[in-house]
Amino acid sequence: MSEHRYPQGNVLYRKLNRRFPLITKGEGCWLVDEEGNRYLDGCGGAFVANLGHGVAEIGQAMADQAGRIAYVNGTAFTHEPVEQLAAEVAALSPGDLNRVYPLCSGSEAVEAALKFARQYWVETGKPKKHKIVALTPAYHGNTLLALSASAREHYKTYYREWLVDVARVPAPYAYRCDCRGRPPLCPACDGSLVEEAIVRLGPETVAVFSAEPIGGSSSGATVPHPDYFRRIREICDRHEVLFVADEVLTGAGRTGTWAAIAQFGVVPDLMTLGKGLGGGYAPISALVAPDRLAEVLAKGSGALLHAQTYSHHPVLCAGALAAIRYLRHHQLIERSAAMGQALHRELQALRGLPFVGDVRGRGLLAGVEFVADVETRAPFPRNRGFAERFTALALEEGLVVWPNVGQADGTNGDLVMLAPPFIISEEEIRELVRRFSRALERAATGKAGAAEKAVEAV
Ligand SMILES: Cc1ncc(COP(=O)(O)O)c(C=O)c1O
Repeated sequence: MSEHRYPQGNVLYRKLNRRFPLITKGEGCWLVDEEGNRYLDGCGGAFVANLGHGVAEIGQAMADQAGRIAYVNGTAFTHEPVEQLAAEVAALSPGDLNRVYPLCSGSEAVEAALKFARQYWVETGKPKKHKIVALTPAYHGNTLLALSASAREHYKTYYREWLVDVARVPAPYAYRCDCRGRPPLCPACDGSLVEEAIVRLGPETVAVFSAEPIGGSSSGATVPHPDYFRRIREICDRHEVLFVADEVLTGAGRTGTWAAIAQFGVVPDLMTLGKGLGGGYAPISALVAPDRLAEVLAKGSGALLHAQTYSHHPVLCAGALAAIRYLRHHQLIERSAAMGQALHRELQALRGLPFVGDVRGRGLLAGVEFVADVETRAPFPRNRGFAERFTALALEEGLVVWPNVGQADGTNGDLVMLAPPFIISEEEIRELVRRFSRALERAATGKAGAAEKAVEAV
């Protein structure tokens, strides 16, 4: 068996200095490699495999659609899958969000949402409104406007000259805020800093405020105070700023409701979906907008000025449609809420383990933040690579987790995320926690295995 690593073969791998297990199949929450090793997919790949692996009927729906008509361009034609998918997404989405523009990746949906906001203001006769306000930490994608809106500094290393200015506001990050997320809330946690930024920039120049309703990988599943987004809604309304809820990671049921923002009793102006929308079967994302905004474009220029060949793609829409119907048929959003409670209950066992600073999240989304000192919350120095080391050891234990770094101060900070498929059982949750604990004990005692050495070099 050949090694799957650069420079073998022809793949430009995502990492050029480690070997990759070759996965041959997936079953439920499990991945199986060519040597028969089984991995518990604790993070659904990248928060994607919400329905679990190996659901043949979704692939079948895509194959059937490809056999009927695989592609028409969205400027010339419409088709059944996009019409039905839009109706399903509209019915599930909060408030008046009823217009669905399918794209392929989360980054594309974010780009489209920000462009929509800008175009909307120009077409309502307010062309000065162009500035973007976003949180730190936050992640909104990797294409250049979405990367500009993201606060992930290490992703920007070589591209700063190409990025646009985005006003950054500290996120409501309870574990690292002075108030620890409890009243009296600090200005980051009560939303005041967002208003301060808008006022400082001049509301007549601000187009949009963008936020993940529950923190994604950048802030490790941090849940804002229940009043946060009501305040944001009120601030955005008062200053005529559009509020974009980026639900690429949290949407499609991940936190126990179709959209996480619904749990805050708030309707955003624009919403993005991705990842779980196609459950990994179809690379599909979507911008969701209300008629009250679409109407301005309809009466004005007549279209969102954002052309992509593969938007509104029949096969991808058929995949997402089958994924949503599967989700509804098997009541998997309700299951995400119920199993989420089981996950968070079992994860409490980690609190006593070395270096565990915080365990948090909502539904089947959890973050575990590691610190050098639990009392002071001091992070490890970045060059220790704790999150990467833990992730490699977890893989050796047959558990896939999602690491993220830099959240403590932009450079330092180590956390890992858990986001298993919604079909996970209570026994699999306990197995996940057992494997997690074993990996952590090894990370704490410094026993290195083969996979760890491979990842340490990254
Ligand atoms: C909140 C959020 N927005 C946008 C994106 C970008 O999505 P994609 O990687 O599909 O382009 C991500 C990806 O992790 C995300 O978590």
